[in-house]
Amino acid sequence: MKIAVIPGDGIGKDVTTEAVKVLHSVEQTFGRAFELEHLPWSADHFVVTGETLPANGYDLLRQFDAILIGALGDPRVPDNRHARDILLGTRFELDLYVNYRPVKLLDERLCPLKGRGPKDVNFVVFRENTEGVYVSIGGRFKANTVDEVAIQEEINTYKGVHRIVKHAFDYAAASGLTKVCMADKSNAMTQGHALWQRVFKELAAQYPAIIATHYYIDALAMYMVLDPGQFEVIVTNNLFGDIITDLGATFQGGLGMAASGNIHPGRTSMFEPVHGSAPKFAGKNIANPIGAIASTALLLETLGAKNEAAAIDAAILLAVKENQVTSDIGGTLGTREAGDFIARAISKMKTR
Ligand code: NAD
Ligand code: IPM
Ligand code: MN
Repeated sequence: MKIAVIPGDGIGKDVTTEAVKVLHSVEQTFGRAFELEHLPWSADHFVVTGETLPANGYDLLRQFDAILIGALGDPRVPDNRHARDILLGTRFELDLYVNYRPVKLLDERLCPLKGRGPKDVNFVVFRENTEGVYVSIGGRFKANTVDEVAIQEEINTYKGVHRIVKHAFDYAAASGLTKVCMADKSNAMTQGHALWQRVFKELAAQYPAIIATHYYIDALAMYMVLDPGQFEVIVTNNLFGDIITDLGATFQGGLGMAASGNIHPGRTSMFEPVHGSAPKFAGKNIANPIGAIASTALLLETLGAKNEAAAIDAAILLAVKENQVTSDIGGTLGTREAGDFIARAISKMKTR
């Protein structure tokens, strides 16, 4: 397996080091060979070279089996240009239309919702990942004056909406799940989200064994907090999916815990923790590496290395159960020591 590793900025570097440590442990334990290539694309690289990623950057990425990213975002690049090119650019150019974000609580102690445990918090969010407001179509007229007009268009295409909603139904069907909930804002966004309504109804009719429900996104946010147990699969647009998965991350113990995959089934896909570069923690051995390590498990699972992915998930669960974790979730370990524990736990799990 050829894996491109882009640590990026801030704590992205800290947590990626631990994810790579875990990959090495998986290699030794399972007799796998991963060919890792570190790519320096980051704010540091941009500040020094003026380049966000090279001209052939996306073609280069397509040659890997998968991509592992830490996080991108740095106060020295206030317009976030490098993150737009590296992170959003890869989502667009590699057409990674599925943003897969599991919301899975590992231990009741980590959940801020009163009385909720792992049985109540176990669902997945499929976020559309290639259109919506993220396409950056628009402009600023009379910028920086009192007459400024700023336009940011939201793109919704039949193809784009259909393929993510279909993916959600197919995932549910393949996983033995029975519920898919679509969230939009079709009561206010009466043009673009009418398309979501039409596509959702069209597809729901093709999956009679699955209960298809709809909430407006504001109500969905409320129900996620009040009654998370009702959800199995949520599908929504790019922006709403971004927002509700930070909320979902808090149910799991915080942003440090949440994993994600940016997937085009059958093609080179990209995996990253849900969190950002948390500049105030950068380089301080504080950041929780679990989100990045769990993203590595998603990467391996997507490439078909199921036992290896399961071993990583089991090691993460053990770390949580034994409180061998960082301070954001109540432990006393640093980033490196938390990574060491998980890497060691895997090495003790020899399964063949
Ligand atoms: P953030 O996710 O970086 O951090 C928000 C807060 O969450 C942190 O201050 C910290 O308290 C907590 N947190 C996040 N990750 C953690 C971890 N691993 N361990 C412990 N605590 C953790 O979000 P932000 O502050 O809004 O953004 C900072 C920068 O990151 C910005 O430049 C933003 O654009 C960027 N960003 C990048 C990505 C990405 O690369 N995928 C995602 C989100 C934000
Ligand atoms: C995420 C991040 C990105 C997004 C930012 C960094 C552009 O918040 O991956 O969740 O909004 O998609
Ligand atoms: Mn986000």
